[in-house]
Amino acid sequence: MTRFAYVNGRYETQSAASVSIEDRGYQFADGVYEVVALWNGCPIDLLGHMDRLERSMAEVQFPNPPSRMALKVIARELVRLNRIRTGILYIQINRGAAPRNHPFPGDHINCSVVMTVRHGLGPSDTEIENGVALKVEEDQRWRRRDIKTIGLLPNVLTKQAAKSVGAFEALLVNPDGTVTEASAANVWLVDAGGDLVTRPLGLDILGGITRARVMALAADAGRKVREATFTLDQVLAAREVFLTGTTTFVLPVTKIDHTVIANGHPGEIACDLRDRYQAFLNAHEPDTSWHVG
Ligand code: PDD
Repeated sequence: MTRFAYVNGRYETQSAASVSIEDRGYQFADGVYEVVALWNGCPIDLLGHMDRLERSMAEVQFPNPPSRMALKVIARELVRLNRIRTGILYIQINRGAAPRNHPFPGDHINCSVVMTVRHGLGPSDTEIENGVALKVEEDQRWRRRDIKTIGLLPNVLTKQAAKSVGAFEALLVNPDGTVTEASAANVWLVDAGGDLVTRPLGLDILGGITRARVMALAADAGRKVREATFTLDQVLAAREVFLTGTTTFVLPVTKIDHTVIANGHPGEIACDLRDRYQAFLNAHEPDTSWHVG
């Protein structure tokens, strides 16, 4: 089936769609992005993604950011054109195209806007059933990880390092020994008392939309969530460890490097939250999910 993309005002077949070689996203990674899950044709947590995108664009000082209304209209049309039920919507916004020069090119240059969609979403049945392995890697990213920038080389390299040893994800650790997140997901643990713990929002991690959703689902289930920093040793000794993210949902972790977590099976609380997240996805109505914020 032909796939369509949106590029700077036009819907084009994906193979024909292109951007300028002077686009600043291409030359400087001067851009920001969002990945939104599509489930039953519905965008999941679109409001949270739009809020975060606007924040990212403000933090990197785009002078003329596209409006969220315009972005939603484009996204909806792209999902319709591609007849996507379950998959992802990718939105990338760059500072625009201009002759290569480090300073901002000026307010007369419009942002470039690219959107694509892809079929298929979520971890495999085996990953869900068995849990996944992580590989510990030093977190070498810049100090503004709260901005969802397209400058993802450290994420790419650590994810590949994990893949090369058969692990699903990299567990990123700051030089001070605290765990930040994974290369494309947030990290949680369940401590000895049964409390859920995840790193507080701040400059060190991306404020995950799934993280926020799972916090709300945990609160609904009467579970206590503590936002606190934790060390690698604490993760290795945890009762449960799991990841959250748009493409991972809630995914139990059963091994980190050579250490088996707890009894080596997905934990009870992680599985309960995974089921609650799945129920949350299934409850979406196609016609109303686009009308948010
Ligand atoms: N990544 N941390 C990082 C570094 C991420 O890249 C992501 C998501 C998350 C989870 O955020 P959310 O719940 O909002 O998806 C945490 C996306 C899926 C990606 O880059 O493909």
